[in-house]
Amino acid sequence: MTLFRFLCCRKLDAPSKSEVEEELSGIHNVRLFTYKELRNATDDFSYANKIGEGGFGPVYKARLRNGKLAAVKVLSAKSSQGVGEFLTEIKMISDIEHENLVKLYGCCVENDHRILIYNYLENNSLADTLLGNNPNNIQFSWPTRYRICLGVARGLAFLHDEVQPHIIHRDIKASNILLDTDLTPKISDFGLAKLIPPNMTHVSTRVAGTLGYLAPEYAINGRLTLKADIYSFGVLVVEIISGRKNTNTRLPLGEQYLLENAWELHERRELVGLVDASLNGNFDAEMACRFLKVGLLCTQDNLRHRPSMSTVVRMFTGEQQIDDKKIKKPVLISDFMGIKARTAQKSSESYGSSSGSDIKARSAQKSSESYGSSSGSDIKARSAQKSSESYGSSSGSDIKARSAQKSSESYGSSSGSDIKARSAQKSSESYASSSGSDNRIASTIRSEG
Ligand SMILES: Nc1ncnc2c1ncn2[C@@H]1O[C@H](COP(=O)(O)OP(=O)(O)OP(=O)(O)O)[C@@H](O)[C@H]1O
Ligand SMILES: [Mg+2]
Repeated sequence: MTLFRFLCCRKLDAPSKSEVEEELSGIHNVRLFTYKELRNATDDFSYANKIGEGGFGPVYKARLRNGKLAAVKVLSAKSSQGVGEFLTEIKMISDIEHENLVKLYGCCVENDHRILIYNYLENNSLADTLLGNNPNNIQFSWPTRYRICLGVARGLAFLHDEVQPHIIHRDIKASNILLDTDLTPKISDFGLAKLIPPNMTHVSTRVAGTLGYLAPEYAINGRLTLKADIYSFGVLVVEIISGRKNTNTRLPLGEQYLLENAWELHERRELVGLVDASLNGNFDAEMACRFLKVGLLCTQDNLRHRPSMSTVVRMFTGEQQIDDKKIKKPVLISDFMGIKARTAQKSSESYGSSSGSDIKARSAQKSSESYGSSSGSDIKARSAQKSSESYGSSSGSDIKARSAQKSSESYGSSSGSDIKARSAQKSSESYASSSGSDNRIASTIRSEG
């Protein structure tokens, strides 16, 4: 086991300075910044320069000494992800360059500081713009959406099919798609990506991602393959074409889940009705439906039916035809987590404020009440260790979930120390890693719908 892996496994232990230095000495193409340099570049990390805050910590706009703008991501001291993931991110992307991937300039690992310095992207993320309040007032015309879908597909195809060993991003979502000045999409945040050796299906003990984008087999069984990214990408494509978030609990029941809507419209041969009304009909209907169908294909229950990213690119460009007969009902994690049932029963008081449309799931030690956050505008669902209807048991700290009968009840076991939901109705190829008996969902499912 390399030192690097060793560091990653010891997520919560801070490695010594010399360990970090030794590890970094083997990484090329990344400039080491001093903390002082970054303080100067960000005006002492001033509030005015803060451009956002994600799960890792705040992000600041900075002007480097060479005059270039940069995004400085400061790992929060509280962050449980810590050094392991920090080094993962550096290691993953230091050698990788592609038009549709965010460029890492460098990092700072002075004392307790863990900071990443990226190329600054002017036009925020798709979550802020297309799906958010759009501060830059960007017009997402049909050609722009086409270019964004194709660009993200190419970036991901590069990670999956060209980089050796391939890289699973693990957190493809709208907030991780940043837009350059000319709206070229750039995939950001490789902190969750891991190199996996060829011929191996990597089963992670740590599940991180975003609920609405999470492939159920990854969220539930921790079964991580390239197909998990492809699932997330499929959700993203449908969001881009429709201009809607994957989950919106403010909508009436039956309209809250975008993939479900897409499937229903597809069945009625009315898929074109999902295309963003703000385009005012200015789009190529055949092409838009093709993109939506690719989204449906990418989110199939059966992993083998999800196309590779290279195939997706060819489908987008029309080089490869889509066989409509292969499109079956997409699978949603909410089918398994009982979210819909709860949404129906308890919408505002249990899932958070009525203004929230996002769903965040965190594994926690809370009871079913903890599914909601009364203060946040986001909906936070916590997989519980104390609720028999959720993931956890009252005594166990390990949560083993195997897909069961698609009912929330089936996920919980109040008697066992581990919660095991076994894949009963599902085909082994789509969900289960029958050999991996300990696919533990032991840490946070972070999400943002
Ligand atoms: N390279 C960059 N250029 C410009 N803005 C950036 C850059 N990287 C991040 N941002 C902005 O900083 C904010 C926080 O990003 P960050 O990646 O930390 O969180 P996130 O993507 O919203 O959530 P998560 O932690 O789940 O990835 C986002 O609004 C994003 O648009
Ligand atoms: Mg991000």
